[in-house]
Amino acid sequence: MAILEILVYPDERLRTVAKPVETVDESTRQLVKDMTETMYDANGIGLAATQVNIHQQVIVMDLSDERNELRVLINPTVIEQDGEQVYDEGCLSVPEYYAPVKRAENIKINALDEQGEIYQLEAHGLLAVCIQHEMDHLAGKVFVDYLSRLKQDRIKKKFVKRARSFD
Ligand code: NI
Repeated sequence: MAILEILVYPDERLRTVAKPVETVDESTRQLVKDMTETMYDANGIGLAATQVNIHQQVIVMDLSDERNELRVLINPTVIEQDGEQVYDEGCLSVPEYYAPVKRAENIKINALDEQGEIYQLEAHGLLAVCIQHEMDHLAGKVFVDYLSRLKQDRIKKKFVKRARSFD
């Protein structure tokens, strides 16, 4: 297992659109293991492969306090969505920044698990938020894209400055 480096906004590689996984195999399962370890190490509740610069449609998530309810979503597609909710979102690629984002309240998705088996999941509330947030990453989107241009410019400046101070 390995802890992978998480790309930080406004890194352009976060804009890459991920490709579907053609065959779920040992290399996919290794990626899932490494992403899971990376997510737990960073105290995150979700991580998309895009964030570790691997552009395949793979997401890991765990919303539990005990960190024992791992969910793996490979090639997820939304088949139904309705309602509206606003949640204060954060992201491992935008450290220590939170902002409200409006998303669907309920979603139904199809995805593959790490054995390549298809399953369906109905999600509401925070789980629905998290899935939509991570699926955005696979499409090259970051949650700050939903904020006003002014706010986006401020965040960009802040993170560019922060990156320089680490050089
Ligand atoms: Ni994120």
